[in-house]
Amino acid sequence: MHVVIINGSPRVQKYSNTEKIITAFTKGLSEKGITFETYAISNRKAWDDIREAYIKNDEILIALPLYVECVPGLLLEFLETLPQKDEHTRLSFVLQSGFAEGCQLRCGEAFLAKLPEYLGVRYGGCLVKGDNFGIRILDEEKQVQVTKPYQAMGELFAEGDGFFREEAEKFTGPEYLPLPMRLIMGLIFKTLAKKMFQKAAASWGCSVPLDEKVWETGHDRA
Ligand SMILES: Cc1cc2nc3c(=O)[nH]c(=O)nc-3n(C[C@H](O)[C@H](O)[C@H](O)COP(=O)(O)O)c2cc1C
Repeated sequence: MHVVIINGSPRVQKYSNTEKIITAFTKGLSEKGITFETYAISNRKAWDDIREAYIKNDEILIALPLYVECVPGLLLEFLETLPQKDEHTRLSFVLQSGFAEGCQLRCGEAFLAKLPEYLGVRYGGCLVKGDNFGIRILDEEKQVQVTKPYQAMGELFAEGDGFFREEAEKFTGPEYLPLPMRLIMGLIFKTLAKKMFQKAAASWGCSVPLDEKVWETGHDRA
């Protein structure tokens, strides 16, 4: 098996959490003797090369962050440039996000599950996991530590069943956080976090509340 891995984040590779996850995942592939090549769509100049790799290879993995509950716009733009292929090609996904609850990645997962059919290729499953906001602000040692579980998923993928095995399903962690934690977080977002976001917005020139209903007040700019 030879895997073409595409980082679908718009964030430059140096600062991309997805990139750190790919690094851990590929360690797992290497452990099992699987070869790979990696690309990043944040580098627009590489798009022709990435498309070429997609066309020439039959094992494709797109690793991507969840942006606003779904697939980043830049990745959608890239996907639109891909040609139709046939079922000899398998397309799998690693979908990761900031917030921890599995439930909030399910919309993105459902979108990705439909995508291979549109491209005429086979679906290899989608590995889903959140709680990754902080990876890029950690020092290198901690980054290796928190992304290490992805190495085991690389090893699992190397065995050839995509992400359909039980281990991949369990990897997501909790679908919902426990009720007390959700209540506390709800309170923080309604008070402290709301104040912080409003302050940040004001420093960028926003003069109306962030939850302003522009369709009711008639304001058309913040
Ligand atoms: C514009 C934007 C939108 C985001 N939307 C979500 C979201 O809806 N849910 C979530 O859990 N995380 C969200 N995140 C957090 C990212 O999914 C998370 O930080 C991810 O690890 C970023 O990976 P990257 O650095 O490779 O882009 C968002 C981040 C950005 C910048």
